[in-house]
Amino acid sequence: MRNFVSVHDVTDIDALVKKALAYKANPFVDKTIGTNKRIGCLFLNPSMRTRLSTQIAAQNLGMEAIIFNVGSEGWALEFEEEAIMSGTTVEHVKDAAPIFGKYFDILAIRTFPSLKNREDDYSELYIKQFIKYAGIPVVSLESATLHPLQSLTDIVTISESLQNSPLGAGGKPKIVLTWAPHVKPLPQCVANSFSQWITAWGKADFVITHPEDYNLSEEFTKGATITNNQEEALKNADFIYVKNWSTFNDYGKIYESDPKWMLTNKKLEHTNNAKVMHCLPVRRNVELSDEILDGPNSIITQEAGNRVWAAQAVLSEILRSNG
Ligand code: CP
Repeated sequence: MRNFVSVHDVTDIDALVKKALAYKANPFVDKTIGTNKRIGCLFLNPSMRTRLSTQIAAQNLGMEAIIFNVGSEGWALEFEEEAIMSGTTVEHVKDAAPIFGKYFDILAIRTFPSLKNREDDYSELYIKQFIKYAGIPVVSLESATLHPLQSLTDIVTISESLQNSPLGAGGKPKIVLTWAPHVKPLPQCVANSFSQWITAWGKADFVITHPEDYNLSEEFTKGATITNNQEEALKNADFIYVKNWSTFNDYGKIYESDPKWMLTNKKLEHTNNAKVMHCLPVRRNVELSDEILDGPNSIITQEAGNRVWAAQAVLSEILRSNG
């Protein structure tokens, strides 16, 4: 593995999941493979889970992790080629990225979309420019359109839960991605990425449900069943992935905040005692109810804990493939 920015960087999802679960069982088995190696984690946007889990994962492999909050502490970066930098940006990625390439062995980056211009966001210019100019492996800590470390974690968590369920490890679960209300426009990254990974994994009946006009890009949802009827979608679900996203077509808008889309215990009655997932952070009693978050069907804390093992599996693969 050279870079990790989408599911296309992974040749065998199940092998990576197995590796993550092996690290969960034995965190320090590879504690020397990162000795004398350094990962630089650049944050252009805030983070709790991604930042801490990546740091812990790197340390478990013997690597040093250096965090740089570029967004709040660094020079404002320019990403456009041939830009005339007479505005607010101070340093071009063409100049900065090769320096990161000298300081670090792996570069990890978090950057959010603007939600203003769809073509710009979906071009993934920021992460592509880092790949182009850093000269070292690049890991996405969430980009403008995808969140691959989260999605790998989600499949790790689903696989782990299946082992202890009546379906068993080889069972084919029904997984439902449901839109949920929110007070502000959020990126489509987590929903895009979850759809991309679950369809690539191919081991689930996958249904996406959302209000009208909240379609995700077909690039990521091909192979999923899509419906605007949440009640119908949730029938016999084994896993429910809850997430808000803003509109894709009329880009970055909120059309709908109807609380009837929020998941409740009443809605769980028609499921197969479904496990409930969310990437966090979550707005309680807007996006998800207290009764679900604090109830027995939530596997959200387990999911967040698994972020460490997914990150460790990815960093380990990169270290092995790139000497
Ligand atoms: N799920 C997730 O990426 O959390 P953070 O934004 O806290 O990193």
